[in-house]
Amino acid sequence: MTDARMTDATMTDAKIRLSGIGKSFGAPAAPVVAVQDLSLDIQPGEFLTIVGPSGCGKTTVLNMLAGLESPTTGTMTLDGRPIRGPGAERGVMFQDYALFPWKTVRGNIGFGLVHGPAGAGLSAAEREERVRRVIELVGLTGSEEKYPHQLSGGMRQRVALARLMANEPQILLMDEPLAALDAQTRIILQDELLRIWGQDKPAAERRTVVYITHSIDEAVFLADRVVVLSSHPGRLKRIVEIDLPRPRDDATRLSKGFADLCQSIWQSIREEAYRATMT
Ligand SMILES: Nc1ncnc2c1ncn2[C@@H]1O[C@H](COP(=O)(O)OP(=O)(O)OP(=O)(O)O)[C@@H](O)[C@H]1O
Ligand SMILES: [Mg+2]
Repeated sequence: MTDARMTDATMTDAKIRLSGIGKSFGAPAAPVVAVQDLSLDIQPGEFLTIVGPSGCGKTTVLNMLAGLESPTTGTMTLDGRPIRGPGAERGVMFQDYALFPWKTVRGNIGFGLVHGPAGAGLSAAEREERVRRVIELVGLTGSEEKYPHQLSGGMRQRVALARLMANEPQILLMDEPLAALDAQTRIILQDELLRIWGQDKPAAERRTVVYITHSIDEAVFLADRVVVLSSHPGRLKRIVEIDLPRPRDDATRLSKGFADLCQSIWQSIREEAYRATMT
């Protein structure tokens, strides 16, 4: 079903709205244009993935959504209000998920609740309960007292995911969060991520996710829509609606619909990657 809400930007109550966003770095006389004229509405509860060739500006877009960079041109709003900096309603997970090596799994996950705004107003017992719950959610029960060096890469990634979830952000901004993992662990964490996002819940109870990945399979498997950015500078090349039924699972990965969508997106990215080598 094509949902008119998704296509007509003027009729929506977008959670996040990007209007004519551009971002340049460097001296005004010789700017590096990272992102150009990007307009996009992200719906509440939507799982949006962004793909595009290396260097096309994906991380720059995420940094702007996180409030860590400001756009050079255009406007960016969250619930209709301009994004002017970071906020507790947005949780960010970068590719190098930087755990504190001197803190245990429990200490790392609870850090934001103890020291950040997300824990304000919670009693020590409530914080502890929240940490216990997210540890269970990501499958780390039993490893609470371990230190990062005692964990596998997949487990460290789970700690980073749990740390993000402990703060209960409405919006998850994720930059290649599973990129460092082997294929099997990656598939398991994709399934868990969909569960945490709320794929079994009504759409109104889901979080809003903006998720960057280099993997086309991953982009298609997770998303409601896949945004394809053009090669440097990043512009909107294509938005693909992923109408595969939910909940998604291994049967989805094996379906013809899935393969066709991956193939179609790969064609678009190949064009861009090829163009990038020619310019
Ligand atoms: N702080 C900065 N100063 C100068 N140039 C920058 C800065 N950040 C990004 N750029 C440039 O902007 C462009 C987009 O970079 P960005 O990191 O957003 O790309 P990306 O799509 O995330 O790439 P990758 O897929 O390799 O992670 C690149 O040309 C990069 O060199
Ligand atoms: Mg990047």
